[in-house]
Amino acid sequence: MKLLKGNIVYSPKLGELVTLPHGALLLDDDGVLCDILPAAPEHADAVVTDYGDALVMPSFVDMHLHAPQYPMLGMGMDLPLMEWLNTYTFKTEARFADTDFARRTYRRLARDLITGGTTRVCMFSSLHTDATLILMEELEKAGVTGYVGKVNMDRNSVPELEESTEQSKRETLRWLDACGQFRYIRPILTPRFTPSCTDELMAWLGKLAEERGLYVQSHLSENDGEIAFVRELHPDCPQYWETYHKYGLWKDHTVMAHCVWSDERERAAMLEHGVTVAHCADSNINICSGVAPVRTMLNEGLSVTLGSDIAGGAMLAMSRVVTTTIRVSKLRHMKTDGKDGFLTVDEAYYLGSTAGHRWFGADGGFAKGHPLHAMVVDDAGFAEPVRELTLRERFERAVYLMDKNAVKAVWSEGRNVI
Ligand code: GUN
Ligand code: FE
Repeated sequence: MKLLKGNIVYSPKLGELVTLPHGALLLDDDGVLCDILPAAPEHADAVVTDYGDALVMPSFVDMHLHAPQYPMLGMGMDLPLMEWLNTYTFKTEARFADTDFARRTYRRLARDLITGGTTRVCMFSSLHTDATLILMEELEKAGVTGYVGKVNMDRNSVPELEESTEQSKRETLRWLDACGQFRYIRPILTPRFTPSCTDELMAWLGKLAEERGLYVQSHLSENDGEIAFVRELHPDCPQYWETYHKYGLWKDHTVMAHCVWSDERERAAMLEHGVTVAHCADSNINICSGVAPVRTMLNEGLSVTLGSDIAGGAMLAMSRVVTTTIRVSKLRHMKTDGKDGFLTVDEAYYLGSTAGHRWFGADGGFAKGHPLHAMVVDDAGFAEPVRELTLRERFERAVYLMDKNAVKAVWSEGRNVI
């Protein structure tokens, strides 16, 4: 057994925060969480790691990001989505035909995720099979867990980043065959979005998802230009989501990024089919997509998680994505004259951690019976407070001020990775 001592903080439910000053987590030898203790026992029959006065919190989950866009963080931010894709994004992703460049970039990305406290991801690669396998390898080595998708895109791209329908199918199968070598990273089918995929490819992917029991991730209702284009491409579908539903891609665990403009009917279809929203607040502001109705989604009972969406988002650190999510929700709050309540710190942290872990099957913040996903945050380096702070106050400050210097240790799938 192992005993981790520290100030335990977690959010078991939306809007609920548990704080256990000088508590402890009890793990078995495989790193599975057995118990959450309000006070550390005096004599424990366990190997003790004492994190002193630091905060021990569930790690972050980034439910939507584009690995091959890491080199273009903070570029092209003044363009709307479709122009941003054509001018910057596709050309950047084309560079990942070069496997050495992919190795260097993905090694860096994997390390930066872990040092920022992100231990689970649901991630897009590029269309390149070899670079995608390198990405999966580097994530595993660094201790990141989760899902990665080789992107499928057989239309409306630029000449440097094209695959034919046949190539896309063949490469997807080659990629899936090679995924068995990974223990902590699994494949997820990834049609980029409806404008990028022919009907034939979408239908083939839907069938494959069903045959092999694979999950699906894509983009939905992000931007008005994109939505108009989808309407042109699928005049038979009254709404965007139906272009996925038509081909069997709209199902339990499907992750749809953005959903900024999803109306009541589209949202009801998410709830009905178990589709999860990856809300990407920073990206939605950067490329002027809009402000998603997150409070309404939560009130309706939707599963809402957070994504950095790099490089539409310009920040990989999920602590900063969480605080940006709060600020953006306050914009909507003010714009609706208070009708849409903003997200509190507890709520936004819940969305960036517990809600993501829940998608992976581990509910409740610190999930007993599951391998531990945690980060240890040391706030001793922040400015000296004017009075003694409660653990709740220290948590709030940690969420706002955390950077990689403050993240002292990380546990991922039961393993101490830093
Ligand atoms: N829609 C299709 N591809 C992308 C992408 O790479 N980023 C964002 N934000 N939206 C997309
Ligand atoms: Fe995206």
